[in-house]
Amino acid sequence: MPLRIMVTGGAGFIGSHIVDAYVAAGHEVLVVDNLSTGQAGNVHKDARLIEMDITDPALVDLLDAERPDVVNHHAANPSVSLSVREPAFDATQNILGTLNLLEAACRAGVSRFIYISSGGAMYGDPQYLPIDEEHPSNPVSPYALSKHTGERYVRLYGLEHGLSWTSLRYANVYGPRQDPFGEAGVIAIFCQNLLDGVAPEIHWDGEQTRDFVYVGDCARANLMALEQGVGQSFNVGTGLGTSINALFRVLLEVAGQDVEPRRGPRRPGDARHSYLDTSKIERQLGWRAQVDLRQGLAQTWDYFGKVA
Ligand SMILES: NC(=O)c1ccc[n+]([C@@H]2O[C@H](COP(=O)([O-])OP(=O)(O)OC[C@H]3O[C@@H](n4cnc5c(N)ncnc54)[C@H](O)[C@@H]3O)[C@@H](O)[C@H]2O)c1
Repeated sequence: MPLRIMVTGGAGFIGSHIVDAYVAAGHEVLVVDNLSTGQAGNVHKDARLIEMDITDPALVDLLDAERPDVVNHHAANPSVSLSVREPAFDATQNILGTLNLLEAACRAGVSRFIYISSGGAMYGDPQYLPIDEEHPSNPVSPYALSKHTGERYVRLYGLEHGLSWTSLRYANVYGPRQDPFGEAGVIAIFCQNLLDGVAPEIHWDGEQTRDFVYVGDCARANLMALEQGVGQSFNVGTGLGTSINALFRVLLEVAGQDVEPRRGPRRPGDARHSYLDTSKIERQLGWRAQVDLRQGLAQTWDYFGKVA
């Protein structure tokens, strides 16, 4: 049955892919986005875009008028470095914005709330690998703390107001439409560097590992979370740790280039290894990442080549 779905942050990198998947599945989609980092051009033509900040008190009236069945919450300050420079801004967006949305959702009788959390940030320096959902949450940045706190508020609204919720904790997401000019998003940055004829910079010794998950796989998880996984948090990743050196080698092969990377220092706070245990979402939702790194990099490289 087609649902009425509100996607916050649906003009951004990941949110816009979620919108595409919901529209393709026949749902009616409304995007709420303040276009701070997102772009109207990312929004599917069959979705409706409302330019509004999630901290705006008028959000309550908007939800009351629109009455979505589902709220999918991607809008956030997604930048760790900005959160360190401006922790109050980060908390306003990620904590108070989430709270405003939860209030609005409960008053409008929303029947499903999908929250987007961060499996790359909220667990902190891993105590064991792969990181499962039971791993202690040890936020080491204002961003990690604000995403964690948002998830706790969502749980609280489940307990207090009977809100039906699911939280998806993404690993390192990559793919088309990621910002290649930011401080994070290593794959988008490397693609842009190669297109510009600039040697990409690899921090530390490049042997640190991360869990790179393709954005299309995240979109499939959001489709499944429409009806399953009530009251649960799930890691969304590949379960594989890929070193930055290995990633760089595969990207060079995909791009047909031969470039020597520049080497830079370790960035403060960077964990040595981080990758997620995804067995819970496999068991409960039947989801697993389908796009391997080479395929995902090929699609991403193809995209950046076209928009360059
Ligand atoms: N990129 C990753 O690897 C990753 C990993 C884990 C979690 N996440 C989470 O995924 C979500 C999307 O991140 P992204 O990488 O696509 O970033 P993005 O910047 O492309 O998307 C964020 C979107 O939210 C909008 N937005 C920001 N603040 C808003 C506000 N106050 N009101 C309304 N709209 C607002 C922006 O305009 C943008 O369209 C975020 O919640 C982020 O924390 C991302």
